[in-house]
Amino acid sequence: MSSSGSTRVARLVGCVVAASAAAAALAAPPKHAADEVQRGKYIVRTAGCNDCHTPGYAQTAGKVAEEKWLVGSPLGWRGPWGTTYASNLRLSVWSMSEDKWVKHARLERRPPMPWFNVRDMSERDVRAIYRYIRSLGPAGDPAPAWVPSERAPGGPYVQFPAPPK
Ligand code: HEC
Repeated sequence: MSSSGSTRVARLVGCVVAASAAAAALAAPPKHAADEVQRGKYIVRTAGCNDCHTPGYAQTAGKVAEEKWLVGSPLGWRGPWGTTYASNLRLSVWSMSEDKWVKHARLERRPPMPWFNVRDMSERDVRAIYRYIRSLGPAGDPAPAWVPSERAPGGPYVQFPAPPK
């Protein structure tokens, strides 16, 4: 093979390596699975998921043991949408695959779930959240079901005013 021929081959190999590295980066597979779990924990903490999905978290400035995180809450959020309850995410992530959950987590929900924040997160971040919550293992019971607006909720609830006109 001539020297220019082998240079061409070397360039071609270089391109293939670069292209597959770019494809891998686009798919964003975690280089280290443990890193993605830690990233998920960081996002959960800073994006406020515990504030509603972990009983007592907001009231104690986060002094809740990690094994009790995200088990859902019996505190109702009552407004024109009826009364909603922050769900048990520890059970939610065990009820479906990662791909399915990533789509599910971005769907529109009733207030005060900030579903639009999750919708606007990168796919990598939503996947990291899933992996972190899975790493905690399943725990707790399902949160109470949504109560329609004409019915009064049985347990404690926070009353929201009607949205501003
Ligand atoms: C202000 C309170 C609040 C915060 C903060 C919050 N949620 Fe929620 N979340 C709720 C409520 C209430 C529901 C139930 C909504 C409904 O009934 O439609 C819910 C429902 C969900 C659901 C659908 C039900 C399920 O279990 O699969 C997912 C997924 C979810 N939240 C994920 C998150 C994630 C991830 C975060 C952090 C980025 C978060 N939530 C932050 C209140 C909250």
